[in-house]
Amino acid sequence: MTSSKPDDDTTVIAIDGPSGTGKSSVAREVARRLGVGYLDTGAMYRALTAVVLAEGVDPADGEAVAERAAGLAIGIDTDPEIDNVTVNGQDVTEAIRSPEVTAAVSAVSAVPAARRRLVAAQRRLTQGSTAVVEGRDIGTVVFPTARLKIFLTATPAARAARRAAQLGVVEPAEIATLAEGLRARDELDSTRAESPLRPAADAVVIDSTELSREDVVEAILNAVTAHGRSE
Ligand code: DC
Repeated sequence: MTSSKPDDDTTVIAIDGPSGTGKSSVAREVARRLGVGYLDTGAMYRALTAVVLAEGVDPADGEAVAERAAGLAIGIDTDPEIDNVTVNGQDVTEAIRSPEVTAAVSAVSAVPAARRRLVAAQRRLTQGSTAVVEGRDIGTVVFPTARLKIFLTATPAARAARRAAQLGVVEPAEIATLAEGLRARDELDSTRAESPLRPAADAVVIDSTELSREDVVEAILNAVTAHGRSE
């Protein structure tokens, strides 16, 4: 189990869901429009993975991964205008988006002791402020009593197409490879023992397959207003 509950998570808006749903850009935009903080927790798992790979550690070696997590100082801003990540003072903003990190991050993020470290850091980073926090287990584990929980989904085909557009990939065979990568990562993220990807019982589920980014942002802002009123 992941460590004790946070002191106060009623000011958090949790946005969870698989890759390729447009989650990151939507979450950042919602934070901008509300004038509140934003935390990309996936970037933190990616930062740990970058360190694991740079040090030649096997991502499947739970003990070694946990050891790296224990000594890690991740620098990440909660200002939605700042997209900059450091580990132990070194800029890893670009490195954490590499295909190597993307391929290894699910194995690294399945290590329970590493998750405990990062979850504690996520709670510290957002303590005492209102923030949109984005990830896989935000509404279920990190902030279980968040003010509002959104679970963003889309069909596998729509997600692969979105990821391909982001990366500028047009070849059908390459798109198929991307789709397979997404499928494999989702399976690992959804079936792991510790904090698997799943919607919280009280999450508002939004299927973005047929929606533009603006439509999704507006749907979330409407949900924020509705939840604020009912408090
Ligand atoms: O959102 P992303 O694709 O950058 O996330 C990278 C990986 O990190 C993803 O495959 C699962 C993991 N992750 C997680 O386990 N828990 C989170 N709260 C966020 C991300």
